Amino acid sequence: MAQASADLDYARKAREGRFDWGWLRDTGSEWGVRAKPSRVGLTLRDISVGTYGDVPDDPPRRTMAPRGADVDPDVPDMGYTINTKAEVWSDNVLDLYEEAVSRQWSATRDIPWSELPELDPDIEHAMCQLCTVLSEVEMVAADFPAKWLWQINHDFVEAKMFLCTQVMDEARHTEVFRKRALANGGGLGKAKAVVEQFLKLILDARSYDEGSALMHLLGEGIVLSVFRAGELIAPSPVEKRIFRLCMQDEARHVAYGTMHLRYRLSRDPSLAEDFHAYLDQGEEIISMLFTTPEVVEPVTLLLTGDVKAAEGLGLGGADLLRTRVIEEYLQRCDHAGLPRRGRMRIPAEMLEGTTAAEGTVA
Ligand SMILES: [Fe+2]
Ligand SMILES: [Fe+2]
Repeated sequence: MAQASADLDYARKAREGRFDWGWLRDTGSEWGVRAKPSRVGLTLRDISVGTYGDVPDDPPRRTMAPRGADVDPDVPDMGYTINTKAEVWSDNVLDLYEEAVSRQWSATRDIPWSELPELDPDIEHAMCQLCTVLSEVEMVAADFPAKWLWQINHDFVEAKMFLCTQVMDEARHTEVFRKRALANGGGLGKAKAVVEQFLKLILDARSYDEGSALMHLLGEGIVLSVFRAGELIAPSPVEKRIFRLCMQDEARHVAYGTMHLRYRLSRDPSLAEDFHAYLDQGEEIISMLFTTPEVVEPVTLLLTGDVKAAEGLGLGGADLLRTRVIEEYLQRCDHAGLPRRGRMRIPAEMLEGTTAAEGTVA
């Protein structure tokens, strides 16, 4: 495309009042469409009217021109690499965006920091170690969508907007766990290579498909199960509130990932084996996490309340969390249309107490 330059001829005519008026008289866009606000206001679903609601499976252009606009034929190619709707879409993405925007919260204002009680030093230490791990893993769920966002065709703008909300959500999660670690005298604990290796797997994913399966479905699913256990492990109402607020956000990210995979597979069932291969590689994180002292022991200590009781319980508490993580993950895989029972390739003893062994081993 030729470099755009100022149209001085137009300027000379316009100075004399000889305007072009093409944008006013000759547009091909859908005049007369009037989106009606619903009960909560004017939502993305409300404005999906007429052809504006049609999201093409394979957009003809790779531009930032708004979908439904009358597009200049000379628009440049932006070089997007994700140009198939099924690569990023999910049937719930419009609603998830609306929910994300309406449920934003502030880690500064909405957590009653001044009500943090003085805790037993071991419990404070355990909470801070857990916050260290969470603060570490949360940010990859911002980095991964951010890495792929610019490559997504602008015709899938609602999916891009949802991923923007995820980036903001994860910034806040990183913030709130960092703040909790520093707010009550404990500080940050140990960061482990095993965790970093999984994060790298997500960041290095060769496709959005691969990274989204590893992150939205598997990694964030694990984190969601931990947040759900927050009621049991939170040492005070302050941490309960932190876990509860994070859980709302995390549930959206996982809902997107699950429904996105479902959409992707419904459009192209032949991709199932590729997704199985991604998860074969990623699921090892479950057995690695539940054999890492910096994860198992803080959780056990928070559950039991003291070192003696934790030693009495042994792996009982972590096992409870591990079986929940696996069961909830298996349910999500079922829902996405990618059943993983009988396919999980992690040591059998790490699957004990779950239904993972059911089904046919591939
Ligand atoms: Fe998060
Ligand atoms: Fe998340």
